[in-house]
Amino acid sequence: MKLFESIKDLKAFVNAERSTGKTIAFVPTMGALHEGHISLVEAAVKDCDVCIVSVFVNPTQFNDPKDLETYPRTLEADCKLLEKAGVMAVFSPSVEEIYPEEDTRTFNVGNVAEVMEGAYRPGHFQGVMQVVSKLFDIVNPNKAFFGEKDFQQIAVIRAMQKLLKSDIEIIACPIVREESGLALSSRNQRLSEEERKIAANIYRVLKESQELKSDMSPKDLIKWVTEELNQIKPLQVEYFEIVDAESLRSINTWTEAKQIQGCITVYCDKVRLIDNISYTAQ
Ligand code: PAJ
Repeated sequence: MKLFESIKDLKAFVNAERSTGKTIAFVPTMGALHEGHISLVEAAVKDCDVCIVSVFVNPTQFNDPKDLETYPRTLEADCKLLEKAGVMAVFSPSVEEIYPEEDTRTFNVGNVAEVMEGAYRPGHFQGVMQVVSKLFDIVNPNKAFFGEKDFQQIAVIRAMQKLLKSDIEIIACPIVREESGLALSSRNQRLSEEERKIAANIYRVLKESQELKSDMSPKDLIKWVTEELNQIKPLQVEYFEIVDAESLRSINTWTEAKQIQGCITVYCDKVRLIDNISYTAQ
């Protein structure tokens, strides 16, 4: 496995591979890799001839400087996992390599970037689109792999691709969970053992809410989920919304959209956890 820090070297590698007719898969990450990330890598390795993974903690998507500063950086361990998973090249650039000057671009993708995470983390998705568009330009893969853990991020990336008229195919991969149901996240490391158990209630309540769907309106189900979770200390729901999975607009009735998703953010004390569930799949 090769490790590249410069855009020029990575491009030369990818171009050489592509010129022999190989298909290229790309998995963007911020490192501190766990099985959730690795599941995307495994799907990418299976799907294409060459898999490239980026490990880059993107400063423009953090709205809290402290969060950026304390974000775990574990490149050596990450590389071991990636090599084992069959990755051909890792791209781990410096901030200066990606942003030699300030990126002042904004992407007007409308509602999908403004609701939920977009509302609670202003600027976050603009930062995500800045970095992903740059990485897509550099790697120019056939397919790029993203996790449904960040359900809204996928909708935002798809909208960006439409705006930019890019034909890189976006592949969505399912959420990987702990046995308890807690969605894997690098932030879980910041939970105590007790808090980790408590955080598993998020998925438990979401699963239960799937069963209640036939008896309740979306509005009532939102109230039920929020109240159930807020009863459990130290959980505090920031938002829970039931939306059209494509447009991310809130729905009032269960027949309003083809695919319906419930998206939630819950604080477990100071740790911000996100999760989501389908109300239409299967
Ligand atoms: P990061 O948080 O490192 O996540 C990288 C990818 O792994 C994302 O597509 C995310 O959805 C996926 N992922 C994380 N936890 C997962 C889980 N439990 N199951 C399935 N997939 C999971 O998302 C980002 O980085 C950044 O915003 C990035 C796209 C790299 C742009 O900087």
